[in-house]
Parts: sequence; C-alpha cells; structure tokens
Amino acid sequence: MDAISVIRTKRDRGELSPEQIDWVIDAYTRGEVADEQMSALAMAILLNGMNRTEIARWTAAMIASGERMDFHTLSRPTTDKHSTGGVGDKITLPLAPLVAACGAAVPQLSGRGLGHTGGTLDKLESVPGWRAHLSNAEMLDVLDTTGAVICAAGDGLAPADKKLYALRDVTGTVEAIPLIASSIMSKKIAEGTGALVLDVKVGSGAFMKTIEDARELASTMVALGTDSGVRTVALLTDMATPLGLTAGNALEVRESVEVLAGGGPKDVVDLTLALAREMLDAAGLKDADPEKALADGSAMDVWRRMISAQGGDPDAELPVAREQHVVTAPSSGVLTRLDAYDVGVAAWRLGAGRARKEDPVQAGAGVELHAKPGDVVTEGQPLLTLHTDTPEKFGYALEALPGSYDIAPAGTPFTATPVVRERIA
Ligand code: URA
Repeated sequence: MDAISVIRTKRDRGELSPEQIDWVIDAYTRGEVADEQMSALAMAILLNGMNRTEIARWTAAMIASGERMDFHTLSRPTTDKHSTGGVGDKITLPLAPLVAACGAAVPQLSGRGLGHTGGTLDKLESVPGWRAHLSNAEMLDVLDTTGAVICAAGDGLAPADKKLYALRDVTGTVEAIPLIASSIMSKKIAEGTGALVLDVKVGSGAFMKTIEDARELASTMVALGTDSGVRTVALLTDMATPLGLTAGNALEVRESVEVLAGGGPKDVVDLTLALAREMLDAAGLKDADPEKALADGSAMDVWRRMISAQGGDPDAELPVAREQHVVTAPSSGVLTRLDAYDVGVAAWRLGAGRARKEDPVQAGAGVELHAKPGDVVTEGQPLLTLHTDTPEKFGYALEALPGSYDIAPAGTPFTATPVVRERIA
C-alpha cells in the first residue's frame, strides 16, 4: 500500500477500499503518510466525496486510532449532545445539568472556539477557578457524583482526527461533509455514550449554509451513530441569527445561568428544552420533565455542583470587559434580519475568539444584542453593545457590522423562522 495510489483512486473518482482506508488513517497517525499527501487526499475527498460505505470505514479507522471510553459502571443511562457550532450557541451550559437533573448521565467532551464560532470550554473558563482538563478517572468521578461533566477531550480519543482536523483547518478542506461527519462521529462513538442528539445548525453563522447540506450532514451522522449501536437523532436548527442575546464567553455564561434560574431568552429556553427532551427520550427516560427541572431549581443545583467539582466558584462574579461601545438603530421600524455570521465575526474581533489555536481569549469580550428579528426598534435606541478589554479593536469589529441587519418600515409583516426546523432520526 502507498499514499500515492490511495490519492489517485480518489482523485479519479474511485471508491476507496476498506484496506486503503485503514492503511491511510493508521499510516497518517503514525507519521508515515506526510501532511502534504493527506492534504491532497482530503482535497480529493472534498471535491469527489465518499459513499456511505467509505464514510463508515473512515470513521471506524479514526475510532481505532485511539482509546474508547467506557461508562458501563455508571448507574444512569448516558446521553450526549453535539452541536455543529454557531454564534451565541451556549446551549450545552444549561442543557448538560438539566438533563442530569432528569436522571441521565451527560459526558460532554467539548472543544474550543476557532474562527467566528465560540467554544464551550472557552466559555466555562470565564468562571473563576474552573478547570477544563481532567484525567479519565476525574471525569468519571465528576460524572458519577454530579450526573454531568463538561471537559476537554483527552489526547487518547481519536488522535487521527486531531491531526487531520488541524490539517483540514489550514488546507481549505474543513467543509467536506464526509470529513465533518466522520470527524464528529468518531469522537462521539469513541466517547462511549449510549445515546446522542445532534444539533445541526443551518444558516449564515453555521458550517452548513443551506437546509439541503444540513440534511445530508445530519442523515450521514445519524446513520453512522445508529450503525455503531448509539441511539442517534438530529435536529436541524436555525443559525441565521445569533442564539439568545449574547455572543462571547462570560456574557454567554451569564445568560445560561439566567436560563437555569428559570428566565433567559425564549429561543435559548426553547432549544434547551427541545434538545433535553430528545436526549432523555433517546436514553429511555421518556417520563422525565425537563421544564419542571428548570422551574424547580434542580437543574441549577446540578450546575452548581458540576462547576464546583471542577474547581469553579458558581457564586463568583463573572469577568466584565473594561470598555463598551453601543451601536444604535439608524431608523425606526421592524428589525427583520440580524446576521449570525457578522455578529460572530464582530465578537471574535473584539477578543472573544482566536485566530490560531494557541491564542488566548478575553473572558469579557463579545456582543450583546438589544433586539432580535421581529422586534420593533426606534431610531437611536441601542441595537448592539460591543464589549472588549482592548478598545483599539472596536474599529475592526465595527467593520463587520454594516449590512448585518435590516430595519423595515413599521407594520411590515415578519415571519419568524422556528428555532427547530427539522428532525432526522
Ligand atoms: N467539528 C468537528 O469536530 N469536526 C469537523 O470536521 C467539523 C466540526
């Protein structure tokens, strides 16, 4: 077997054999296949695709490159959620403790943000003292004692994906559906969850800009999960506008705590409850009542225990950015569009996100929204507040915003896009 013949097969639109796939993933992980060879293969896959048989084998080979976790010692059924990433997507924060409060165990191995989408670990690190990196034994202990754990995936989980994802990031090959599906599912299957709910985002702020692409990604991942014995369901959810009223690390933690306290923006609450119901159903806990667990404070109790178990202080003041800049409405009328991608880019430029994996993020930086599509606004009222510790970034962030919203004359009819657009099982 050699790398050139594998690349040629896919370059010429052929089907990769199971032996070719197993060999190339293993040899790449060991350093025998060079980065430039894997880049060429990833580009051939992006251009020519892979069929379901190839994707399943590719995923299995990436799982086999590392360890598999085992939660069989837990007394509760395990259920997890994965989001393909969006702007203001803080749902994991209220969702994991909520589902745990309803009787399931939630092992959330999460990542950091790159580009305009935020990362769950960056958000939680704005809680003073909170630790993202746990050993496998510590992770199991937090999960066992609190019902939920949100932490960084260890280096042993799908190392082939770690290497390949970093390569795709710098070679323009992230957007290939077979590679996204196998990347996400290799980590989730290796993690050992019994049930999985996929939140596949659609719209300007998401990887998938069209409903057709989102459907294809979702059905590919559902098939991979189901064939591996993981009960898997996907919701296609709107990411044309940011979720909730905040994008940025500490800003999003604050909003998540509001949800756990029984308040918070309606779209965040609705999506949290929709995903919670799916996770509990998939775990076989059909009688659980997540709405009650939000209202009676039991989800908040799990949040506090989960944060404390990882060194965080749930009562500590969250960081606030040193400087603010308010963007006002240029006219009166109905806000008909507020673009998720542009708000994400502005938050990122203010310091909430990073351009390279090793860059630090600012805990307080981000964008606060004062209106959402469908709201009536008055000329001069605050539309957005930009937050940063480094005010020299305001100009660059503001450059992302002209054209990011539309205000139509008062009385213009507006039809809201539902947060949950489709379900694929
Ligand atoms: N998230 C992942 O884990 N992998 C991808 O390829 C894209 C998003």
